[in-house]
Amino acid sequence: MDSKRNGFSSNVGAILAAAGGAVGLGNIWRFPYMLGQNGGGAFLLVYLLFVFMIGVPLMMTEFVIGRGTQSNVVGAYRKLGTTKRWVFLGVFGIIAAFLIYAFYSVVAGWTLNYIVLSLSGQLSGLEKETVAQVFSDFTQSSFWPALSQFFFIAITGIVISFGVEKGIERVSKVLMPVLFFLLVVMCVRSITLPGSEKGLLFLFKPDFSKINANTLLAALGQSFFSLSLGMGAMVTYGSYIRKQDSLLKTSNWISVCDLLVAILAGIVIFPAVFSFGMNPSAGPELVYVVLPNVFNNMPGGVVFASVFFILLGIAALTSTISLLEIIVAFTVEELNWKRSTSSVIVSFGVFLIGVFCTLSFGPLKDFLIFGRTIFELFDLVTASYIMPIGALLMTIFIGWFTPKEVIKEEISHGDSMKGILFDIYYFIIRYIAPAALLVIIISGFLS
Ligand code: TRP
Repeated sequence: MDSKRNGFSSNVGAILAAAGGAVGLGNIWRFPYMLGQNGGGAFLLVYLLFVFMIGVPLMMTEFVIGRGTQSNVVGAYRKLGTTKRWVFLGVFGIIAAFLIYAFYSVVAGWTLNYIVLSLSGQLSGLEKETVAQVFSDFTQSSFWPALSQFFFIAITGIVISFGVEKGIERVSKVLMPVLFFLLVVMCVRSITLPGSEKGLLFLFKPDFSKINANTLLAALGQSFFSLSLGMGAMVTYGSYIRKQDSLLKTSNWISVCDLLVAILAGIVIFPAVFSFGMNPSAGPELVYVVLPNVFNNMPGGVVFASVFFILLGIAALTSTISLLEIIVAFTVEELNWKRSTSSVIVSFGVFLIGVFCTLSFGPLKDFLIFGRTIFELFDLVTASYIMPIGALLMTIFIGWFTPKEVIKEEISHGDSMKGILFDIYYFIIRYIAPAALLVIIISGFLS
């Protein structure tokens, strides 16, 4: 390995770093509101199915591509493909990372303001309408959200400039356990509220009449978004996993962590929301508008509100780290940029585009493309289109255009995938995953 390709120092380090990339706003902010808007327990059930049937095999595939080639996404497809044609898949991944980072950093930035607002008690004791007003005044004000976004992007850039082991792995090893601990504290608070059963029922009791093409697309998009699949994030992290580590175990651990955090977030949010008679399908505002009201009504609300937003900020940070790494690894290996220079340049680039996402809550609120603001468009395009389509193309590439032996050889390092287990995996990647992806993408287009 050359000096550029330092990797994770241990399997636990790899799992925590990749789980850090996967666990993010997607689990605590996006999952609850998607579930709230798409039928509660029924959504959870479909989601579970997608995570283990399609998510885990796909994550392993991304790891195989990354570890097998020891490369960033673009380099990986260049080395693995028999023709240049497949390189576009890598480029697709870089573009997706850029777009996601641009809108993701807006919401990540909000967490900083909300940490300050809750710590200083400015959210407590407000009327329902005033809490909503605080949120809309804040997001529309442009300056503060943009500054927070900038700040968040800067912190991420600093971590990435320290490299894979000293930056990403070290930060994730501290933050992930902290995140988990805070989440459990919040769960206990929420479940012990009077009337919390209604929220738990909403989360866990499936109503099958709620399942339709849109639920499926939403659940698939959410599982991809949450597991960071279909765009090369896990290709990049996979290239840092040691050869002796089992990819099956690693992928399973990451997916279980990711799922657990999403469900715990649901347990924090829904019992509290129902307990105080609020609306569970409020959409993206759920955690910023509905929750502060909930905190206002509970004993110790100021403390719990602060803990919640700190938690959200930590989850977001380990994910922005992984988003930036996808792009930086590419510039370092393909364009020969220095890591530190690249961290600065890419961060500025993302801020330059990302600030338009911030402004789409204020001055650019009425600037609509296909009926959506820039922020909504970036979210929709990446989660519902780029990630599923990217994943579809990846399964076709791996299942149909890469020699089976190459995959088998790489995936069975670390002793995880021999015999029938490999055959099942290969069958999913060659037939099941592409078919499922195709049906869902098409039905999404038609509906
Ligand atoms: N998985 C992250 C979350 O749940 C979001 C995300 C999507 C992501 N794609 C990514 C993070 C790529 C890092 C890299 O919040």
